[in-house]
Amino acid sequence: MSTSETSYRTHTVGEVGEGVEGREVTLAGWVDRRRDHGGILFLDLRDRYGLAQVVCDPAAMPPSAMLAAQRLRSEDVVRVTGRVRRRPPAMVNASLPSGTVEVGATTLELLAGADTPPFPVSTSGGESEAAEDLRLVHRYLDLRRPALQRNLLLRHAALQEVRRYLSGEGFAEIETPILTKPTPEGARDYLVPSRVHPGSFYALPQSPQLYKQILMVAGFDRYFQIARCFRDEDLRADRQPEFTQIDIEMSFADQPDVWRVTEGLFAHVWRQVASIEIELPFPAVTYDEAMSRFGTDKPDLRFGLELADVTGAFRGTGFRVVASALDRADGLGVVKALRVPGAGSTSRRELDELAEEAKLGGAQGLLWARAGDPAVSSAGKNLEPDRLQAALAAAAAEQGDLLLMVADERRVAERSLGRVRTALGERLGLADPTALRFLWVSDFPLFEPLEGGPGGAVSGVAPSHHPFTAPHPEDEAKLLSGEDLLSLRSRAYDVVLNGVELGSGSIRIHRPELQRRVFEVLGIGPAEAQAKFGFLLEALRYGAPPHGGIAPGFDRIVMLIAGAASLREVIAFPKTTQANALMEGAPAAAPQRELRQLHLRVDASPAAP
Ligand code: AMO
Repeated sequence: MSTSETSYRTHTVGEVGEGVEGREVTLAGWVDRRRDHGGILFLDLRDRYGLAQVVCDPAAMPPSAMLAAQRLRSEDVVRVTGRVRRRPPAMVNASLPSGTVEVGATTLELLAGADTPPFPVSTSGGESEAAEDLRLVHRYLDLRRPALQRNLLLRHAALQEVRRYLSGEGFAEIETPILTKPTPEGARDYLVPSRVHPGSFYALPQSPQLYKQILMVAGFDRYFQIARCFRDEDLRADRQPEFTQIDIEMSFADQPDVWRVTEGLFAHVWRQVASIEIELPFPAVTYDEAMSRFGTDKPDLRFGLELADVTGAFRGTGFRVVASALDRADGLGVVKALRVPGAGSTSRRELDELAEEAKLGGAQGLLWARAGDPAVSSAGKNLEPDRLQAALAAAAAEQGDLLLMVADERRVAERSLGRVRTALGERLGLADPTALRFLWVSDFPLFEPLEGGPGGAVSGVAPSHHPFTAPHPEDEAKLLSGEDLLSLRSRAYDVVLNGVELGSGSIRIHRPELQRRVFEVLGIGPAEAQAKFGFLLEALRYGAPPHGGIAPGFDRIVMLIAGAASLREVIAFPKTTQANALMEGAPAAAPQRELRQLHLRVDASPAAP
């Protein structure tokens, strides 16, 4: 008996092929399509494994079975018995693995009828064009489509390979709680009220960060978990409120050790599930270098378009817009430029659209210039011709090139042109869709400005990664003295693929006094630190090994391997960008009685920010 044989069938539909020619088979599956050719019916039968043609001929079947076949509709579930035979040459369907054979039915039975589906499930006419919301409401129908079945089976295969690789490297899979205490990862928490403790709440984990560090203190040395994480944040195509991380932590390990394991893991998964050999090791840049060259901390390296610094060409300019940027009191004013080869004839409308993109990065505007004889720029007479020439030369612009420039504070200028670079990459189709360009980005800032003051004013610092990240050893003294906090580097790193952040990690703080100092700098006083993270501070006092780790986003990995456009295509039951589960209808109001048991009263007035 093969593994596919059950009480209902001898073979799966996918097993129908020349290998079983001449055999009598019993199949069970869904009616993908039904065609009537003058009394003879052709059914396309479908299951997870494939599609096969069944021929229902009144001459070969009892009248009751033929009647059942005539009444069949798309998506009905049937069981069919018949003999596998070669198709007449004119009927061969080369696009189907079972296309040279068909099943001549001798009997057929309806197992379950189907209402008319709200959208076509069969993709014989191409991909589904039904609205995504409708497909999400009827997810069980959408999931019948081969494309989604393929994605979820790919996910399954990738999951097995992650476990195989990490177990082989000595990592132990350990589960950590779902009902827990807040773990700060920069998003809002999902809270679960306690019935037994009035007014108290569990938080769903934003990540298992604290548990995995404590497992290191406990001596597990190498841990991993396929961890479900929950974050109440603004959603995008590559974000879901609940998602899965490959959470990893190692003891007595430094950055190169974590990177080597991550690279080995990725190479293994891509090799096993996509038959792709990834080149190792991945190139690495510091955060500073990534920002300076690409204007983003997750550059897509499938195309060039690097930023240049043309500040020198503008020193002493009379062009007010640029002069005021360069005269900043903090001395951080620069002019950054992006040379687009051969794009000198870009239309005004396109340039305006690129300027809008730059403004989203914080720039006041986008200055453009066309290299040529004479060179022209959007500043017209306001910009001295010799300075324009110097800027073009500094960026190595040649006849016919376009130069896009932003004068501003260094990071604003970089970030703005980084957005323009990404937009141009998409517009001009610069990225090879088959290329895989992995990259490590290291030495992220330890802190970022906390904009919580009146009118968005900076009121302090917040962690760039999370508060458990170790400072860069060269910057530790400054952390202790509290000097120039925003300039401190950390031991955090990201692994990026084709412009997508695949994973983040860091070397952690393993000394309690340093951890206390970071809390202090973040404005978390001793009492609050004790209340929120006392268990961690306590654990660190009992001998914590130096440790570090990473958490690659599993959904994002599957999305990129599958070539899917959104995480929703690789998650069985995803949520919408409004965090709704449309099929089952979550979230939903709770009955009064339950709310009372949970000691809750609902105030439906607008939420506090
Ligand atoms: P971080 O918050 O950067 O780090 O998350 C790690 C990776 O998880 C994925 N990810 C998401 N995927 C889908 N939807 C989301 N809403 C979402 N948010 C994050 C990304 C991201 O790179 N505890 C640390 C890791 C560590 O330090 O070891 C953490 O959670 O791919």
